[in-house]
Amino acid sequence: MNRIWWKEAVVYQIYPKSFYDSNNDGIGDIKGITKKLPYLKDLGVDVVWICPFYKSPMKDNGYDVADYYAIDPMFGTMDDMDELLENAREYNIKILIDLVLNHSSSEHKWFQEAISDSSSSYRDYYIFKNLDGEKLPTNWRSIFGGSVWERSEDNNCYMHVFDKSQPDLNWENPKLREELYEMINYWLDKGVAGFRLDAITFIKKDQNYPCLPTDGEDGLVGLGSVCLNQKGIGVFLKELKEKTYGRMEAMTVAEAPGVPYEQLDEYIGDDGHFSMIFDFSYSDLDLSPDGNWYPQTDWSVKDLKEAIFHSQLSIQDVGWGALYLENHDQPRSIDKYFRDEDCNNKELSFYLGSVLATMYFLLRGTPFIYQGEEIGMRNCPFSSIDEYNDVSSKDQFERAICAGITPEEALKVVYRRSRDNGRTPMQWSDCENGGFTHGKPWLKVNPNYREINVKNQINDENSLYQYYKKLIKLRKSISYKDVIVYGAIEPALKEYDNIVAYSRKLNDIEITVITNLSSKQYNIPIEYKENVLSNYMDIDYNQSKKEITLRPYEAVVLVK
Ligand code: NOJ
Ligand code: CA
Repeated sequence: MNRIWWKEAVVYQIYPKSFYDSNNDGIGDIKGITKKLPYLKDLGVDVVWICPFYKSPMKDNGYDVADYYAIDPMFGTMDDMDELLENAREYNIKILIDLVLNHSSSEHKWFQEAISDSSSSYRDYYIFKNLDGEKLPTNWRSIFGGSVWERSEDNNCYMHVFDKSQPDLNWENPKLREELYEMINYWLDKGVAGFRLDAITFIKKDQNYPCLPTDGEDGLVGLGSVCLNQKGIGVFLKELKEKTYGRMEAMTVAEAPGVPYEQLDEYIGDDGHFSMIFDFSYSDLDLSPDGNWYPQTDWSVKDLKEAIFHSQLSIQDVGWGALYLENHDQPRSIDKYFRDEDCNNKELSFYLGSVLATMYFLLRGTPFIYQGEEIGMRNCPFSSIDEYNDVSSKDQFERAICAGITPEEALKVVYRRSRDNGRTPMQWSDCENGGFTHGKPWLKVNPNYREINVKNQINDENSLYQYYKKLIKLRKSISYKDVIVYGAIEPALKEYDNIVAYSRKLNDIEITVITNLSSKQYNIPIEYKENVLSNYMDIDYNQSKKEITLRPYEAVVLVK
């Protein structure tokens, strides 16, 4: 058993623009995070991951960094950041920050130099190509739509995997790499405990820049096969680790789409590039393989659990994983994982939230809670596409229209999947704007804040917030911590299509987690010694039959 602090931690993810506004300008800020440290401590989290707060024109809400060494004024100052780090230390909470290394903002001074002067030494910090007449170098489609190539004034073009305001950095250039390492070390020296690495599997491109057969109406082709996890990326990732966080016991969690399970060892094995990675195989189950939000794919709980266990068992073979239900790129989990009328039955909302929480939190890996998930925040209805802020929501709206559906239907598609669902302001209380700000919130507050808010739930012993606290306590309890953190995972009750169940085993301790992700009732033969957690008041057990009756959306954790 290889004990490491980040395996034992519970992480909380903060989207700073929407967490808490300390100065009432309508935008969440760093002082707002400092103010809420007691809240995070009370919940029981050990690590906070903060999404980008760097100076940025906010075309992609901070994932377009204009200065890696500066705090955007909307979030505060470097003094505020130092104050946060210091206060967090007192609360024994570690801080992880987001590293956006695949691209910068087009407003970064490197890019400004590069685009205005083709002989600048910064030109080679980015990927510029000569234009052959009107013809673009490749037919690759960017993640946010359109070609990856944007013309520059001198009749050249530069590459962007994401938005055109996010030019890709040229990792082939050692000078660029050194600049990035220096910056990462600056933050480590400041005292951050580690990093979440954004879009890191995109940093290496197929150096032949081949054109590929098109796969869409736009004449373009998805760039996965030429820009994701390309041969040779390991050389960069090894060097990155060696020259920065590899020198300490930092925690690194990589957003690493495109890594096949057979290759996990290189990424998260004993000597892997990162502590853990996010696996998207089950959180993107509702997306078509080309990433389009329309049409929606059909999936069942059985598909979901197969995907979860495939992921869990593959990761268990080699290393460690990150567990999550939600993040700033995902819709709210209750809306995503429950699609029938029960989803809107208020009487059930506690059960829906708590059954999902139990299902993912006790899997093998480090659990991440996304802000608002702990109170069961929900997708937010917007009345028109103009009300949305997210660049990909606007692009996906257009894609759906191009596919021939009506604007009303396209709006429904966006409602279901928009990244803004997870980005509406945190609902702290039933006061104006959910207690997030006294100003005008930068993005609509979900109108359900009067019912769903932190204040109500802190004061209610039976709330989802209190249930998350119980889950965290259980994960840290003297009796069960080791089995929950370090125990092996094994799927259980496979024959019940709507039930996700598993056991965790370490030496002679075994716990079984059973979660019913449906409104159906099941009788399950099982024997146990103790029930250590459940989301109903009691547990319906028939002693003589040795059978548990699992009610709709019920979750139980049993000790064998
Ligand atoms: C992944 C981030 O999570 C997402 O929010 C962002 O838009 C892209 N990477 C580009 O940085
Ligand atoms: Ca503010």
